[in-house]
Amino acid sequence: MNTYKICLLKGDGIGPEIVNEAVKVLDVCAKKFNFAVEYDEALLGGCAIDATGSPLPQETIDKCKAADSVLLGAVGGPKWDKLPGSQRPEAGLLGIRGELGLFANLRPAVIFEPLKGASPVKDEIIGDSLDIMVVRELTGGIYFGERGRRETDGEVEAYDTEQYKVSEIKRIAKVAFDMAMKRNKKVTSVDKANVLEASRLWRETVIEVAKDYPDVELNHLYVDNTAMQLVRNPKQFDVILTNNIFGDILSDEASMISGSIGMLASASLSGSNSGLYEPIHGSAPDIAGQNIANPLATILSVAMMLRYSLDEAEAADAIESAVNNVLKNNRTPDIYTEGTNNVTCVEMGDLVCKELM
Ligand code: IPM
Ligand code: MG
Repeated sequence: MNTYKICLLKGDGIGPEIVNEAVKVLDVCAKKFNFAVEYDEALLGGCAIDATGSPLPQETIDKCKAADSVLLGAVGGPKWDKLPGSQRPEAGLLGIRGELGLFANLRPAVIFEPLKGASPVKDEIIGDSLDIMVVRELTGGIYFGERGRRETDGEVEAYDTEQYKVSEIKRIAKVAFDMAMKRNKKVTSVDKANVLEASRLWRETVIEVAKDYPDVELNHLYVDNTAMQLVRNPKQFDVILTNNIFGDILSDEASMISGSIGMLASASLSGSNSGLYEPIHGSAPDIAGQNIANPLATILSVAMMLRYSLDEAEAADAIESAVNNVLKNNRTPDIYTEGTNNVTCVEMGDLVCKELM
């Protein structure tokens, strides 16, 4: 029997609640699909700042590196908002992405059939289904470029730098094209090449990489146009390939098309087998501790972990179809519609477990 070592980074806000539900689901899968899971836990973000003074203690890095895979809740909250940038909870998240070399962030925006009505986008625009994969570069660009403040013309000026090396663009482009080959063979590369030099290099490099994938249709869109096209005609997209900051923004938008940001999972991969899995939403401090958060994005992140890191595709499929079935009658408040049961975070986790058994 395979045993997988999973490091849990529950984080802040709703992080602990949603991770607990995802762990319940993973345990049920382990029994059903005959594998074992050993858990370790480490601190990241605000809770790490409170306990150790650092948003990313060395112990957390070591534990994550020792694990087969990492499951993360969310980090951040008003308590730590006044700290300087490099000491904020978010710096811990960026730090662990960098430390583990997780350059490829996969964010699938899919609509679960029962949730079609929950999308703010009209039925006729969505059609029968929607399945977009956002491939976001995660360890470069403006998130990791030089930043700071300086005196300019007698006043304070702040700057952040968008920067990409050819090698960084190449490796993320390959991930997107490989992904497209397993899907509908279409890549839309999103940039701002009409203004930004880093985007011009991005576009040139993506065109180069595309030469190795003659079966994949490649097109290029500016990010502002993409934001519009996502709500105008989301069905035109298969794989969206984009940089760190555009991917951050567009994946929130894409998640809303699927009904709620509480539904969107993500996988962050390094090219080796291990990876980090997290919902794309934040720590939602306003609803933390109330047992009303939607745990499905985290549960679906576990499905991605099973598929991409642990080679347990059958278990991944089972989670996704269990979620689909549970959604027919049960909703957390963020996706609630009349005629369904309004359930808590814990109840939602229990329902998915029951459906899996
Ligand atoms: C995300 C989040 C993070 C990001 C924040 C919390 C730093 O918004 O994973 O999308 O911007 O990458
Ligand atoms: Mg984001």
